Amino acid sequence: MPTQSKYAAITGWGEALPPAVLTNDDLSTFLDTSDEWITQRTGMKERRVSHVSAIEMATIASSRALACAGLDAADLDLIIYGGCSNEETVPNSASGVQIALGATRAASMDLNTACTSFLYGLSTATSMIQSGVVRNAVVIGVELISRYMDWSNRNVAVLFGDGAAAVVLQASVTESGVVGTVLGCDAESRQSLRVRGMGTGYTGHNVTFGDMLWDFDGQVIFKRAVLGMSGAAERVMREHGVTAADIDLVVPHQANLRIIEAVAKHAAVPMERVMVTVHKYGNMSAATVPVSLVDALTEGRVKPGSLLLMPAFGGGLTFCALLVRWGERTTPLGESSMTFPPATQSALEMVNTIRAGQDPHGRSQAGLLAPVFAETRRETAERRHAT
Ligand code: UT7
Repeated sequence: MPTQSKYAAITGWGEALPPAVLTNDDLSTFLDTSDEWITQRTGMKERRVSHVSAIEMATIASSRALACAGLDAADLDLIIYGGCSNEETVPNSASGVQIALGATRAASMDLNTACTSFLYGLSTATSMIQSGVVRNAVVIGVELISRYMDWSNRNVAVLFGDGAAAVVLQASVTESGVVGTVLGCDAESRQSLRVRGMGTGYTGHNVTFGDMLWDFDGQVIFKRAVLGMSGAAERVMREHGVTAADIDLVVPHQANLRIIEAVAKHAAVPMERVMVTVHKYGNMSAATVPVSLVDALTEGRVKPGSLLLMPAFGGGLTFCALLVRWGERTTPLGESSMTFPPATQSALEMVNTIRAGQDPHGRSQAGLLAPVFAETRRETAERRHAT
């Protein structure tokens, strides 16, 4: 009979931020954009570009989180790799992290809900600990977006960055970890954010692998993001009898400073109690929330017993809000020696190398635009009735 635990405490945390920095001015060397536009519309000043793989970033972050928790990789029962950046679909990426860590006993799964993947993973791992299936887990948020960005499209190319962070969860009897969860998906808007060129739908359409087009309706996503995150935050607070005054820190998804401000305003939490990292790292999709959490801990903004609110949204359009009660410890038990190898190119040089290998509006365009997807429920239903 598995031993059930009421809580899954966060006992370790670690981030892996690639050293190469891409500034707004770097972007304006090859895009019709400016530091002024990007800063005013998004709050972003710079983002990171990785010279190592997503699995390597995830491994460094996990190793640091394990050292912080004082836990051996061999004691892990579960690894969740949250994100949509995968070198391969088979084998999965979590198994790559598992072997690099030496976590021989762990089950390993990839979880992709785009930008919400880390928080969906945190919720999943917490439930698995509570049900007694596992006792020790690592949950990772990781993205290597620079490799599948359409660098010719200024609407999206200025927004994203690479990075990773991870937390260790351990079964606990004292109240800590995730204490409230709301998960949802606004699937009617799923077509507002799509990366064309990744997936089996493009097979046989003469698409060169690595050529990408992004469908990205920024204004629709913006409005749906504010609605989704605010609604989920309001619901999780109401269901758990929590008011704005009880929230010590909001650690939100970092897609745009204006979205963060709107969500904070809706939740009636002043910006002094909101963690903002979007100016430093841009939107790292699944990595934004765990990286912001680790930065908040490093800066001493998470205190013993703090109540954290974590709202997020992403492709799908998935959304969620988690309430996290912090435990007693806010400092690491140990440090990992694992680190990045030196980068031999600047961020701009790396991006220019990726751009040179891409041709998003040339040889692959017809295939990338092929209508290979069943869109909304209405369109699918119409097709079903017509046959
Ligand atoms: O994690 C999920 C990912 N997605 C998001 O979170 C995105 C949510 N959306 C947003 O954050 C915002 O909608 C954006 C930052 C993407 C865009 O901001 P906006 O205030 O909605 O701008 P807009 O799309 O209405 O564009 C305004 C103008 C347009 O020019 P015109 O038509 O007014 O002449 C754009 O062509 O700004 C132009 N523009 C740019 N100009 C300079 C669009 N991108 C750029 C750019 N540099 N990079």
